[in-house]
Amino acid sequence: MTEKTVAIIGGTGHQGPGLALRWAKSSRYRVIIGSRDTAKAQSVATSLNLRLGEQRIEGMHNTAAAEAAEIVVLTVPYSAHTEVLESIRTQLKGKVLVDVTVPLQPPRVSHVYIPPGGSATAEAQALLGEEVRVVCAFQNVSATHLNDLDEALECDVLVCGDDQGAKAEAIALAEAAGIRGLDAGPLQNAVVVEGLTAILIGINKRYRADGAGIKITGLP
Ligand SMILES: NC(=O)c1ccc[n+]([C@@H]2O[C@H](COP(=O)([O-])OP(=O)(O)OC[C@H]3O[C@@H](n4cnc5c(N)ncnc54)[C@H](OP(=O)(O)O)[C@@H]3O)[C@@H](O)[C@H]2O)c1
Repeated sequence: MTEKTVAIIGGTGHQGPGLALRWAKSSRYRVIIGSRDTAKAQSVATSLNLRLGEQRIEGMHNTAAAEAAEIVVLTVPYSAHTEVLESIRTQLKGKVLVDVTVPLQPPRVSHVYIPPGGSATAEAQALLGEEVRVVCAFQNVSATHLNDLDEALECDVLVCGDDQGAKAEAIALAEAAGIRGLDAGPLQNAVVVEGLTAILIGINKRYRADGAGIKITGLP
């Protein structure tokens, strides 16, 4: 089986590197870190490859990364969401976009914020149109846990979207990262998955934790 290429746009921050490490370690994907700054992307890729002990992650400008990938993962702050999507919309045509963005409104990051388009994921789908299959995933997994490669992750990844094939791609990405991925219904449901992250941030603060997550119980 030929390995698919996954690009993480804004992969130089907190959430992107842990995902990149886990997907690279699985050997199931070619992994590219994207940035607005090619040198920064390459530098982050170099340090992640050092951690892996092999050259499996590449660094590219966001547009080149999106162009090279079949699956594009977006890990940028909500304040940059529209601008970054517009910068790669040509490269996204015909592809799957996995949106990890949480619409937070600093400084009240533990308060659920519902954006004008219903959710960040719905806004991405509306902006990009039917040619791009958008799903949401990985909003409820903390960077702290993703970055610790020795840690077996207990939490679940809820995946929402209107295209079954795109959801299957996101669930496969979750499994490659060592996390159970669950089909959480249509794109309309993304508002709840995104909102859960604000609740988890509040729980982290109140219970002095670093990586609260969610686990669905009662499944066979
Ligand atoms: N951190 C977590 O634990 C966590 C957990 C779940 C969900 N999330 C969500 O995942 C997304 C990414 O989180 P993060 O913590 O990785 O964010 P981050 O570290 O603040 O930013 C990620 C990357 O986004 C790019 N970026 C920042 N500002 C930008 C701007 N104005 N325009 C274009 N690009 C910009 C930067 O990449 P370049 O400078 O290299 O372009 C940056 O390295 C957020 O929506 C967050 O809510 C995070």
